[in-house]
Amino acid sequence: AASSLQQACEPSSAYSNDEYADIDWNGLGFGVIPTDYMYIMKCPSDGYFQQGQLCRYGNIELSPSAGVLNYGQGLFEGTKVYRKKDGGLYLFRPDQNATRMQIGAERMCMPSPSIEHFINAVKQTALANRRWIPPPGKGSLYVRPLLIGTGPVLGLAPSPEYTFLVYASPVGNYFKEGTAPINLYVEGEFHRASRGGAGGVKSITNYAPVLKAIHRAKDRGFSDVLYLDSLNKKNIEEVSSCNIFIVKGNILSTPATNGTILEGVTRKSIMEIAKDLGYQVEERTIPADDLIDADEVFCTGTAVGVAAVGSITYNGKRTEYEISPDLVCKKLYSRLVGIQSGAVEDNRGWV
Ligand code: COI
Repeated sequence: AASSLQQACEPSSAYSNDEYADIDWNGLGFGVIPTDYMYIMKCPSDGYFQQGQLCRYGNIELSPSAGVLNYGQGLFEGTKVYRKKDGGLYLFRPDQNATRMQIGAERMCMPSPSIEHFINAVKQTALANRRWIPPPGKGSLYVRPLLIGTGPVLGLAPSPEYTFLVYASPVGNYFKEGTAPINLYVEGEFHRASRGGAGGVKSITNYAPVLKAIHRAKDRGFSDVLYLDSLNKKNIEEVSSCNIFIVKGNILSTPATNGTILEGVTRKSIMEIAKDLGYQVEERTIPADDLIDADEVFCTGTAVGVAAVGSITYNGKRTEYEISPDLVCKKLYSRLVGIQSGAVEDNRGWV
């Protein structure tokens, strides 16, 4: 039977050469820069993934009745590859993304690739696009795995066919502020997730609904939005594209995962690094009022990295945080990025 996702694939031996792509490596932000190859692996209605392969990066053709287009049956992931001065390429904890995709797929009634297949596809995509991996210190190659329902559905039901696709794009800083502190707006009207929903997994359906809140906050001069829990409307949850931490003395706190918080790979890694550096780490319910007397607030995410927060506006009151080179988040980030880029020894097998 003809597949619902058509794609002309080239042989997987078509790897890019070792020369750098011809772009301005100093000006990377977080936007799509089309690269050379993407990886595609299909799962037909028998529920078994077929052999995947690298294809030329390009548009894909979808049935208008594809499950992902009609009912949002889709998950995404994000991981980064860094280039070290000696030319080595470093991929950070892809097993964590693979596991998270499996958990998300179960929640969204989709079959998922094995951990091994996932990691292999990410590696192949990164290697095939190696000329797009930024020079050391200029950014990283962001690798974006997708799992989407590509088979036709009309009645609300799981798609009969799925596609696992991996593409990549070179990236620099996520926020237009670069590495400067970001200003957050605490949203009282819109919520990101609710108990029993899919906020805890990386479903594509968690992201479009926050666009309006982001747009409104940006119009008012803020960098992004911090959401409150939908039940009590008084505890902080996360930011549109990243997790949040507050620091008070020697204690780092982050909202506990209870189905509405995304289990960020960076969140988890920062908690481990913080413990190594002697901080006490708590996962707990955090009332928004705790923001007012926090010493420091910061955000974590694969795309975002670790971003210091300069101010938070909650209920019309703006709290400003002191920014100095001694911030806890700076120490944590330099250790994290050191491990990610091969500059600091990785004694946990993360890269
Ligand atoms: C990531 O940090 O990798 C994400 O998936 C967030 C996305 C909204 C850019």
